This record gives sequence, structure tokens and C-alpha cells, in this order.
Amino acid sequence: MAILEMKDICKAFSGVNANENVCLNVEKGSIHALLGENGAGKTTLVNILYGIYTADSGEIRWKGRPVRFDSPREAIQSGIGMVQQHFSLVRRMTVLDNIILSLKSNGFVLNRKAAAARVASLAQKYGLTVNPITRIADLSVGERQRVEILKALYRDVELLILDEPTGVLTPQETAQFFDVLRTLKGEGYAIIIITHRMSEIMAVSDRVTILRDGRNVADLTTTQTNPEELSRYMIGRELKQGDTPAATAHSGDRLTLNGVTLAARHRHGALCDISLCVCRGEILGIAGVEGNGQKELAEVITGLRRQNVGQITLDGRDIGRLSVRGRYEAGIAYISDDRQNDGLLMGMSVCDNLLLREFRRLPFSRAGVLDRRAAVRSAENKMNTYQIRASGKTGVQTSVGLLSGGNQQKLVIARELTENAVLIIACQPTRGLDIGATEFVRSLLVRERNAGKSVMLISADLDEIMALSDRIAVLFAGKVAGVLSRKEATVQRVGLLMGGITEKERA
Ligand SMILES: Nc1ncnc2c1ncn2[C@@H]1O[C@H](COP(=O)(O)OP(=O)(O)O)[C@@H](O)[C@H]1O
Ligand SMILES: [Mg+2]
Repeated sequence: MAILEMKDICKAFSGVNANENVCLNVEKGSIHALLGENGAGKTTLVNILYGIYTADSGEIRWKGRPVRFDSPREAIQSGIGMVQQHFSLVRRMTVLDNIILSLKSNGFVLNRKAAAARVASLAQKYGLTVNPITRIADLSVGERQRVEILKALYRDVELLILDEPTGVLTPQETAQFFDVLRTLKGEGYAIIIITHRMSEIMAVSDRVTILRDGRNVADLTTTQTNPEELSRYMIGRELKQGDTPAATAHSGDRLTLNGVTLAARHRHGALCDISLCVCRGEILGIAGVEGNGQKELAEVITGLRRQNVGQITLDGRDIGRLSVRGRYEAGIAYISDDRQNDGLLMGMSVCDNLLLREFRRLPFSRAGVLDRRAAVRSAENKMNTYQIRASGKTGVQTSVGLLSGGNQQKLVIARELTENAVLIIACQPTRGLDIGATEFVRSLLVRERNAGKSVMLISADLDEIMALSDRIAVLFAGKVAGVLSRKEATVQRVGLLMGGITEKERA
């Protein structure tokens, strides 16, 4: 009998169904993988189990009894522990103090020596080597993860939930980590591991539950499936084959990256030896599960971050040492995925935001004095061309914070797509937009491509990548896992590369 049964779990966030009748059964002494693309509802499901969210409806049975946890504390007291996607350790404190932290406030008088001995014996037993008197701040990410696991074990959990635990680990650390999980399983622990990497599921799990768009799509025994089947279930839906016009004949490389490497800052994916080119009159799609280096790639090209190694050229010119402004002037436009933070100034007007990039240039600036009237005229034109709608009658003077998301995005694009731009780096350009705005933004990118410009389309939406791209490069763990032509790029092949399975490994 399953130690955990979740049945018909439903959870909506302001109209978005994050979980719709989701079921999950986990056996004692087993490793159960939860697979799904970004946004599939995996974290929501385990957050409900762990008492972080309350389900709108559905049942949870734990060891045969119906339960509902109103907080993680209650879940832990019943024997369910979780290592969250983002760790919750106190950096200034030691390993030991972190492990015994919340127990102190229970009113126990703790015997620190006994606690230290117990931590040491758990660490020894499960191969979770870490020095108890080190401060968290001085530990590597892999070591912090061990502390999180020790913290759960110390509380006598019987089920351990791990939300994307390997996203932050090197392959070597991952292998060690899987050994720990196998030992735990041998001791009778039940484990839920969330991941989007097919190779890891194949390596470590006993069963797999696959979610897509908040629903169950498959429940499989690992030994009876394969990466192809998993990726088909994960990505699922039939993709409409693109109906965008074929690219005009390529006439050579516009942007080239040669061996570009960016050292890791914090724990997030850096770039490793990236060599890529974007041709004239081409949309190069960058596919990949988020967090595999896409943002860093955009930032290294636009100059927001500086590569440690490698060259970047634009139309044959080395631009690797130019500033952000220098690269903009060289013709690189950037549609950021974060319009609230690096795209727009929310308190300023539409007109001023449109000017942010161009105010140094004629005709807006004559001898260093801004020509307001020319600026307003130009802004009005752009609002028309790019169908930017502001409510009320304030027009170009409307504060940007009052525009809808779709209109804000069109504004960013209107500002970036100047005559001067020859290469457009578009990062998640349609995220959060309604269908109308999405279509409009996509048509703009195609229009630019057809006009001979180059587009790098970075998107977590594989449908979008498949619909617009002339070629597709897949990023995985900061590396180019493969580059496919439009003809070669089936969902299956792209999906495998997104899961870190290279064509060589498969053969
Ligand atoms: N706290 C929240 N508020 C609003 N929407 C949320 C919240 N948490 C998750 N969602 C939405 O629910 C869906 C599922 O998200 P999540 O469970 O985090 O997916 P996964 O972990 O599979 O990537 C997504 O559309 C996400 O935007
Ligand atoms: Mg998640």
C-alpha cells in the first residue's frame, strides 16, 4: 500500500489552474520522480502536501489516514520533510545550529553535545559529509543541500521531498547525491524527486508521474519506459508546424560567439564554451528549460555581463569589450524578459521611456538640449505603429506603470527596434501576453527577420521556438547541447536535448 496518496488535488491561483485533479501515490522504500516542464504544477503539488499552500479540493492520505497540513511544521511533525527549490538555511549560523534551529523554539532544552553526536552519526550513515561547526555561508551549494537533508532526517521524516535538487549541482555532485538517495531508499524512506531531466529519472527513480499544464498525463514504471517516451509525455501536445514564411537567403554570419565562457556567480548557471552564430535574415531559437544559461547568454551578448573567455563579433567586428551602450550603438537591440526591472521605468511616461535609449541622438537632442516637441511627435508615431494602447486621454504622457503587460512589452519593442538595430536579442518576448499581443509581437520579429535583420529568440515556450525559428540551439547546463535546422528539429529531438541527452549519448 502506498504510504502517500494524493487524490484529485485542485489548486488555482487567480484563475490559473496550477493543479487540476492531480493524483500521486508514493510507496515506502521507493524513489518517485515528478516530471514536467516549467509551470506544469510540480512545485504547487508538493507545496500543498507540505502545508505551504492549501488545496482548493482533493484528498491527501498519509499512512492510510486523511491529513491536511496547515504549515510545514505540521507536515514535519507527521514525518514529511522537504528540501525546497531555494534553500532556507540561515547563512550566518553553523550547520549544527541550522539543523536544530526550529527545535529550540519548541521549548525543549537541547543538549548540544547529544545533538552534535546525532548529526554526526546521521551524516556518517548516509554519506552526507559536512562539518557541523562550519557556517553555512562558507559551504558549497552541494554541501548546503546535504545540510537541508540532514535537517529533515534529524526530524525523523519518513518521506523526503526534493524540489529540483540537482539543478544546482555539478554532475559529480549529482552522482554522489544519487548514492545518498539510494541509501535512504534502502533504509525504507520514501522519496519524491522533482526534476525535468530525463537522464536523472532513468538513473535514480523507481516510478515517474508526469504532469503537464497542471494535470496528470502518465504514471510509469521507470524500467518500462525510456527518455523518448518521457519527453513525449512531458512536452505532449502536437505542435502546429510553422506557417511563417521561410527565411530569405542567408548571407553570412552576423553574430558569432566563439568559446564564450562565463564563470558562475552564485549558484546559477554560467556559460561554458558557447560557440554559436546568428546569420543575417535568420531567427535563431534558443530552447531549453529555464535556468540553463539563457539569461546569461543574453546578458553576455548585450554587454550586461562580461565573458571571462571567448570572442563575440558582430558583422566581423569584435564587440567583446564594448559597453552596453557601445553594443547598442553597434546595432544590438535587447528585449529583456524583465520589463519591470531592466526594461522600463514604471514611474515615467511612455514618451520618456521611448527616449531612454535615443535621447543623445538627433533630432531629439540639438547641441545637448532636448527637443521636446520632436520627442513627443516620434513617441506618438511609435504608439501608432506598435499599437500601444493607453487608457484615458493622456496619450504619450501616460505613466508606464498604468499600461497593461502587453502594452508595456510593445513599448519595449518599439523602443528597441530602431533603424539602427541589426540584431535583436528577444528574451521571453511574449511571456504573460494575451493571444492578440503575442501574435503581434511574433509578427514583428518575423518582419524584422524578413527585412534581413537577425533575431535571437530565447524562449521557454517550445511552441514559440518551433513556430518562429529557422534554426534551433538548445542550451543545457550552460552549454550548447545541440543545434538543429528547422527540418531536423522535431519536438522529440529538441526535448531530449532539453533534458540533457545529447545525440551521441542516445546513439
Ligand atoms: N504563488 C503563486 N501565485 C500565482 N501563480 C502561481 C503561484 N505558484 C505557482 N503559480 C502558477 O501555477 C502554475 C504552476 O506552477 P508551479 O507549480 O511552480 O510549476 P512547476 O514547479 O512545475 O514549474 C504556473 O502557471 C505558475 O505561474
Ligand atoms: Mg517548480
